[in-house]
Amino acid sequence: MQKLWWIGVVSLALSACGDDKKPEANQANNTIGENNVTNNATNGSTNNANTSNNATNGSTNGSTNSGTNNVTTFAELTYHNTIRPMLEANCVSCHKLGSIGPFPLTDYDSVASLGELISTTVEAGTMPPWPPDETCGDFRNPKHLSPDQILKIREWTDNGKPEGDPSEYRAPAGLTAVDLGTPDYVADIGTDYEPNPAGDRIDDYHCFAIPTSFGVDKYLSSYETKPGNISTVHHMLFWAADASEASKIAMLEAEDETTPGWDCFGGNRVDDVKGMLGAWVPGTSGIQYGDNRGIKIAKDAYIIVQIHYNTLNNTNPDRTKIEMHFTQGTPAEKLAMYPMPMQDLYVPAGEANGYAKLDVTLPIPAKVYGVFPHMHRLGTRIRVTTSKGSNDACLVDVPQWDFNWQNIYLYNEPLDVPLGTKITLECWYDNSPANQPQGQMPRDVRWGEGTYDEMCLNYFVVKDLGINF
Ligand code: HEC
Repeated sequence: MQKLWWIGVVSLALSACGDDKKPEANQANNTIGENNVTNNATNGSTNNANTSNNATNGSTNGSTNSGTNNVTTFAELTYHNTIRPMLEANCVSCHKLGSIGPFPLTDYDSVASLGELISTTVEAGTMPPWPPDETCGDFRNPKHLSPDQILKIREWTDNGKPEGDPSEYRAPAGLTAVDLGTPDYVADIGTDYEPNPAGDRIDDYHCFAIPTSFGVDKYLSSYETKPGNISTVHHMLFWAADASEASKIAMLEAEDETTPGWDCFGGNRVDDVKGMLGAWVPGTSGIQYGDNRGIKIAKDAYIIVQIHYNTLNNTNPDRTKIEMHFTQGTPAEKLAMYPMPMQDLYVPAGEANGYAKLDVTLPIPAKVYGVFPHMHRLGTRIRVTTSKGSNDACLVDVPQWDFNWQNIYLYNEPLDVPLGTKITLECWYDNSPANQPQGQMPRDVRWGEGTYDEMCLNYFVVKDLGINF
């Protein structure tokens, strides 16, 4: 059933392929966004002798941007010449005033006072939170410390945490704030929403529908999310829903007349697999699909925003906004987020090694710009791989799934996945008594949007095939 569904989609795409004659003229211009090209010039946080390497890396290798391969040429390893740029590239987006990290890591005194804790935390691998395995997928702006960098933090801590000379500081690559300019449209939840989790829970998953009336179809090329209350907004996902969903939305909104929006978890309850536009987790800045690339938002669509509020700190009101930028007219490359859901999912109560797998063979070539893997709370690992003949590739692997750290991962370079390639989505679950949310008893788990349901889903950010599914 599930497989048929997907193949149906792809076959439709095949028949719609005639519409998609545009040659791959834009392939050369395929840096999806943020900072790769410009930042290589400023690379060299720990190594000035390494410039030729950086120059040839061009935009393809984001992972060297944080100094991964560099050889230290300084006489002494100090805060300014080594530790500071490392933390700025990997930690400061969360560990600064007003962000979600519990303390700032923005100045020598704070960092020095926490030196030992920082060392043990990075050695344990819990910080920075970057769930994808770094050997699978060449993603943009990874937050990742190499074993060598972890050793340097240890060495610095053990050496008495020398501050060093600020003149030896070099700004790390990947840091330049993306200035997206004035947005074309601000999707605003339109209300000061007071998070209100059920019972004694701390989590509230709430959805809001924002009607649009653009007059013409728009294409989302980049966005920046502006959580209204950073201490409660944990993450958010957003979609475009067809105007034809109006009555379903009205029904959901009517479930509780006293609050705006509706209760939702995991998905949005309107239609989870269609119309995904973007996502945000703490520490992410703007997402740029590309200058001449965009995801369609129909002229009269609803923007559906799902916000996960964590009320551990407070239940102060939130008014979240998403600043959207559209392409000028129809973009050269239309993108879409296509779901690959394994809905035939069954993990019996008590099963500690639940596993689900879906294989799909592409009857058409695809161009993949990014991935967005998704499961709920019992998930332990999710992986997407491809194979064709003797060519195997790994698209994304999250070896220790954490529902709290989801993200869209965009590749440095889009991947061409040829016709006939087999795509494999695999999900692992632990449904044993020890791994239950909110102290629940294990129960048989199937696909669904509820807190106690599961998903095995990957969205691909792909070149749009011009199909409606
Ligand atoms: C995406 C946001 C984010 C990034 C990036 C990040 N942190 Fe954190 N960090 C947090 C949050 C949130 C906490 C609070 C604990 C938690 O929720 O896991 C935390 C907690 C910590 C702690 C306390 C751990 C403990 O056991 O008490 C340390 C130390 C730390 N971070 C260091 C770092 C360092 C060093 C980096 C970069 C190498 C980093 N963090 C990157 C968000 C982040």
